Amino acid sequence: MYLTKEEEQILNGEAGETLRQAIGILVTLGDIYGADRLIPIKSAQIAGVSYKTIGDAGLEWISDLQGRVKVPAILNPAGMDLEDWERLRISPDFAEKQKLIVQAYEKLGIRCECTCTPYALEGFDVGYGDHLAWSESSAVSYANSVLGARTNREGGPSALSAALLGKTANYGFHLDENRVPEISIDVEYPLERSDYGALGYVAGKLAGKRVPVFHLRSTPDADELKALGAAMAASGAVALYHVEGITPEIRKRNFEDPAEKVAIEKKELDEIYESLRTARKEPELITIGCPHCTAAELETAAKLLKGKTVSKEFWIFTSRELAKRYPAYIRTIEESGAKVVCDTCMVVSPATNRFSCVMVNSGKALAYVPGMCGAEAVYGSMEACVEEAVGGTAKKEGGSH
Ligand code: F3S
Repeated sequence: MYLTKEEEQILNGEAGETLRQAIGILVTLGDIYGADRLIPIKSAQIAGVSYKTIGDAGLEWISDLQGRVKVPAILNPAGMDLEDWERLRISPDFAEKQKLIVQAYEKLGIRCECTCTPYALEGFDVGYGDHLAWSESSAVSYANSVLGARTNREGGPSALSAALLGKTANYGFHLDENRVPEISIDVEYPLERSDYGALGYVAGKLAGKRVPVFHLRSTPDADELKALGAAMAASGAVALYHVEGITPEIRKRNFEDPAEKVAIEKKELDEIYESLRTARKEPELITIGCPHCTAAELETAAKLLKGKTVSKEFWIFTSRELAKRYPAYIRTIEESGAKVVCDTCMVVSPATNRFSCVMVNSGKALAYVPGMCGAEAVYGSMEACVEEAVGGTAKKEGGSH
């Protein structure tokens, strides 16, 4: 891999130990994946923030780093709401460690808003063709697919290294040839809002790591694309997808349709909704906001909950910036007894672990909650989630579309 003179000096330790480690990580990855050089990035999004996932070893590594990031960089969700961690019964010991992790990142100049939807925040713009080093899988999918930017699915250490250097290795999804559709997925019936998460859950298993192109009979909006990509990244490992006529890159590059074609039938999606009716237990916790709720999703949740009272734990996850920007939605939601929680999510927080059945409106959460939280997960639309939280009636109707 070609390195400039300055990069060679950094690799030799002439710019200090932190940058030597950082460039060492990028060069190693570049050599493994056949990168020709390092390229500048516009921003970084860094996973590996929750104490639940990185533990003491991660805290120690981050705490030892020195210097400042060279590009805008932001954190993925932490293990708790950083301002109100007691509300979800996080232990003081966990909170203490979590705060140390966030402080260590902050010392490096990283924005500590802790969200998987950085593209919804002010000052974190992403344009078509921008090179990034993002690590949370749904954010990676959204950046690549919906915004037409270019990022690999970085690990926490490689995203942090890229932020410290302002560069990443030029391989994978940074290159034109790796962004070409490899499997064509046809959906011959119109989809409604929560169907996109269910579709992603099914399609991710079919696509695996490949780049799918969808042929749809309905026109998804940005939040529906967010749900589709998040689910595919979790049930499979899809980091980039195209939707014919919708996503930006396929409109500019005129790809040929791949030889491998599959169709997803309606009954496959119906089976996902059936999870609620066939669950071994009633949901004890209802969650929405995976990925973090956008303003439009908060508005919908507020409208659905207005004037109602929830009878089960109901947690709604979003970024702190959006929660501050839309206080009226937050007030309406919380008047119902539901909790708006920032900086964290149902998967990376240990708070979810005390429940045995969790209802979600996210294909990604459906894939991750069982393994990461040890709970059964069931799926329903946002409307069904509200219904279940208010009266527990959604189960009888199978979490309806
Ligand atoms: Fe975001 Fe957590 Fe889901 S990081 S995509 S809300 S699993």
